[in-house]
Amino acid sequence: MTLVMRPMTVDDAAPVAGLARQLGYDVAGDEIAERLGRVAGTEESLALVADDAGNIVGWVHALDRVLLQETRVLEIGGLVVDADRRGEGIGAQLVDAVAQWARRNGHTTVYVRSNVIRDGTHDFYPALGFTLQKTSHTYVMELE
Ligand SMILES: CC(C)(COP(=O)(O)OP(=O)(O)OC[C@H]1O[C@@H](n2cnc3c(N)ncnc32)[C@H](O)[C@@H]1OP(=O)(O)O)[C@@H](O)C(=O)NCCC(=O)NCCS
Repeated sequence: MTLVMRPMTVDDAAPVAGLARQLGYDVAGDEIAERLGRVAGTEESLALVADDAGNIVGWVHALDRVLLQETRVLEIGGLVVDADRRGEGIGAQLVDAVAQWARRNGHTTVYVRSNVIRDGTHDFYPALGFTLQKTSHTYVMELE
């Protein structure tokens, strides 16, 4: 297997969008490409794909989260592994790559918010060394 974790490029946009749909987000490849264009290559954001001999089998996006009242953290904003490839350690490798990048960039904490409906993550993150910190409600105000 020639599996590598490498930076996401706009050429990955279509398979990344496909995997985002598995995550529950109906997003088009060109929307992924446009958003990636805004964040790629900055120190505030990291987007990686798990590339298995040219097939994109997972991706992760993490972003620098600066809140006035909290320690700076690197937050995992999106993570998904192809449903056909789960349980092979790919998710763990993506998170490990994020943690390595975080250390190199002076972070001391990696943070992730996971919807309570995502049963798989309740064992996944603790298996990687994360601890459950809190459970929150999310409020949204739609603007006209
Ligand atoms: C969560 C997800 C990214 C895990 O990726 P993965 O490649 O299947 O996970 P790994 O194979 O690297 O597993 C790493 C560890 O987590 C554990 N784990 C992973 N998924 C698990 C599950 N569903 N139930 C129990 N344990 C699980 C593994 O047993 C492994 O532990 P071990 O090293 O002690 O054996 C993947 O299942 C996924 O994409 N789910 C749907 C999207 C999602 O929920 N994303 C997270 C949004 S916050």
